[in-house]
Amino acid sequence: MPVADTGADKDKNSISAFERAKSVFPDGTTRATIERSPYPRYLASGDGAYVTDVDGRRFLDLNNNFTTLIHGHGFGPVTEAIQAQLQAGTCFANPTEAEIALADLICDRVPGLDRVRFVNTGTEAVMFAIKAARAFTGRPKIAKIEGAYHGAYDWAEVSQFTHPGIWGMPNKPASVPYYDGMPASVLDETVVLRFNDVAGATHLLSENADELACLLIDPMPSRAGLIPPEPALLDAVSNVCREHGILIIADEVLNFRQSYEGASHRHGLEPDLFALGKIIGGGLPIGAVGGCAEVMGVFDGSGGRARLPQGGTFSANPLSMVAGAAALQALTPDTFEHLERLGDRVRRALASVANERSAPFCVTGVGSLFRIHPNRVPPREFRQTVNSASAQKAMSQLTDHFLEAGILLPKGAAACLSTPMTEADVDRIGEAFASFLEKSATLVRCLNEEAA
Ligand SMILES: Cc1ncc(COP(=O)(O)O)c(C=O)c1O
Repeated sequence: MPVADTGADKDKNSISAFERAKSVFPDGTTRATIERSPYPRYLASGDGAYVTDVDGRRFLDLNNNFTTLIHGHGFGPVTEAIQAQLQAGTCFANPTEAEIALADLICDRVPGLDRVRFVNTGTEAVMFAIKAARAFTGRPKIAKIEGAYHGAYDWAEVSQFTHPGIWGMPNKPASVPYYDGMPASVLDETVVLRFNDVAGATHLLSENADELACLLIDPMPSRAGLIPPEPALLDAVSNVCREHGILIIADEVLNFRQSYEGASHRHGLEPDLFALGKIIGGGLPIGAVGGCAEVMGVFDGSGGRARLPQGGTFSANPLSMVAGAAALQALTPDTFEHLERLGDRVRRALASVANERSAPFCVTGVGSLFRIHPNRVPPREFRQTVNSASAQKAMSQLTDHFLEAGILLPKGAAACLSTPMTEADVDRIGEAFASFLEKSATLVRCLNEEAA
């Protein structure tokens, strides 16, 4: 049925844009992550914590371009920095002082990050971190967490999407291809570990130690559930990695927003390399690979050819540099406290709304991030986040309900707050959840019976 037949008059401009898009993009979209039910919502503008779509509907934005816009939309200092840089020039083949300013801001606040190289996306940051680990150790394999998302570099994509029929034994998760035609060599070179499985993870790391260049780990992988790491996990995997010379790469592309110093510091992880992105570009495309001076030495080409040459036409482009610097300068310890307070408030509200109604939902997250799960008990690892058909339906209905309540809630991913949000804004999230549970009593009963 053409979407135009659904009669959704209030979305008529989004529907018509989608019809046009279908003739130029495969499936009508330019990113696999675009949500549509059944059509995407085309946005016209954003201001602060809110966005307005092409039909004039206004929403509280809990997506913020997949957690990028920590200051929301149209943040004054970022807009001004971009406008000034536009006049001065958008890109050059020579370095600019803007890149040093952003690097200083990052190196000063992240313990263990002494040197950095800028790229354009989180995918590239992860890719160069993995290549740096290979160049440094001379080993080919990587270890990664099942269900964790790290962008689009092949090895990092292994077992990004997996399910019970194919994910293998609990003590030896299968390396599952992400796309048709993924080379078998990539699968052979990727060791998959389960999050918070201390014994299994340490065993697999030791077993493959001679060939492992790195452990790629997001301290709180969002797509794998936004579940906190148990302290024993990070201690144990760090010890094995140190013992065997396996480098630790922290993928903080998303979770750098967890604190002033980032996520590793918050969770007690001491990585050799970091992959950053999203918030450090202030809303413009960016990625960064950083780490201790010794390991980052693989990028050093001053004596001739670097062990790992890294270029990129738009790497360190001054627009992203100045926007990122303006965003980070405004992210003071006080700003993080504000986000932490708002985050605690929304997580507490959601949990108490579920408890008061005996509804089988829980919430995970820290800082400015949260994720609602259709489970009574918070999951400990990715496998516990794979939902039954009725739980999936409930989550989809929840997103639709939020939309009707004027809130954009991402599906199956972390929702995030932004600095312009107020207590009144975040209280709407708890209220929308309460009205969803009231409206969906039958569905909730069904989930409760399933869980019993
Ligand atoms: C943890 C993590 N790593 C890497 C990436 C890839 O970043 P990008 O989309 O900028 O390539 C993402 C993107 O969502 C991410 O969340």
